[in-house]
Amino acid sequence: MEELRSFRPGAIWPDSSGAHINAHGGGMLYQDGRYYWFGEKRAARRSEGINVYSSGDLYNWQYEGVALEPVEGDADHEIAWGCVMERPKVVFNEGTGKYVMWFHLELRGKGYSAARAAVAVSDTATGPYKFVKSFRPNGNMSRDMTLFKDEGGAVYHVFASRDNFDMRICQLSDDYLSPTDRDVVIHSDHREAPALFKHGGKYYLITSACSGWRANEARADTADSIWGPWSSEGNPARGPEAETTFGSQSTHVLPVAGREGAFIFMADRWKGHDLIDSRYIWLPVQFDDGGAFVEWVEEWDLSWFDK
Ligand code: DGJ
Repeated sequence: MEELRSFRPGAIWPDSSGAHINAHGGGMLYQDGRYYWFGEKRAARRSEGINVYSSGDLYNWQYEGVALEPVEGDADHEIAWGCVMERPKVVFNEGTGKYVMWFHLELRGKGYSAARAAVAVSDTATGPYKFVKSFRPNGNMSRDMTLFKDEGGAVYHVFASRDNFDMRICQLSDDYLSPTDRDVVIHSDHREAPALFKHGGKYYLITSACSGWRANEARADTADSIWGPWSSEGNPARGPEAETTFGSQSTHVLPVAGREGAFIFMADRWKGHDLIDSRYIWLPVQFDDGGAFVEWVEEWDLSWFDK
């Protein structure tokens, strides 16, 4: 494989073996100088577990294998083959030394009705992860989700609840394995695909509207405290096709390691009938008086942040 030196949003993104990266609805962990990209392993439609890739430069990705595989031969298992695993996010717990994965789980044969969060753990970044449990956090439905690790190590689970009408934030226990009772609704505007980041002491939450695999308009909300109040800054996408987030849906905002103020907006350009071929839209986050925003860039690299 020829070495890649740039991001090309929407293009096939070959891993080091030449295969299009299969890590949709992804999240990113940065640990000891390496990035780990976790995402949904998809066939055309089927959910096949959670894949993990690693990279030192964010352009070239090595496939590390299946981080969490559905269980074979026990149809009643919470993660039996036929279940749906979406939007995995992994955080490292300094206290326990464990890598903790949370993801959205739907049970085999039950459509999207289970609406559970699930937890898996590993002693290494790439796994394989061991499934721990699945549940509705504090009894609340949990579909699209992300994790956010704040300075000081507190981790928050951000999730679409009450049939996606509520967006909730719940602080996790010190071991990151469970929800706590620090749990609030931040808005009730029927939104999903949360991605949360912090810049200049301010929290930014990007979400999408709810239209299945079809792209829609994003919204950014900001707050000085993670508990709110949150206020809307409107659509962070600017320019042509801003009304569909450039044909994509948010999944994560990645702080570039060692570059203060450099963030990458990561989104999925879903192909609902060929999910494995869905594309990745990575764009630099920009800031001005109007807040955080993203514009389409055909091809770019990290030197973009030197400007
Ligand atoms: C939109 C969500 O954001 C995706 O993660 C996925 O759950 C699809 N809906 C399923 O239609």
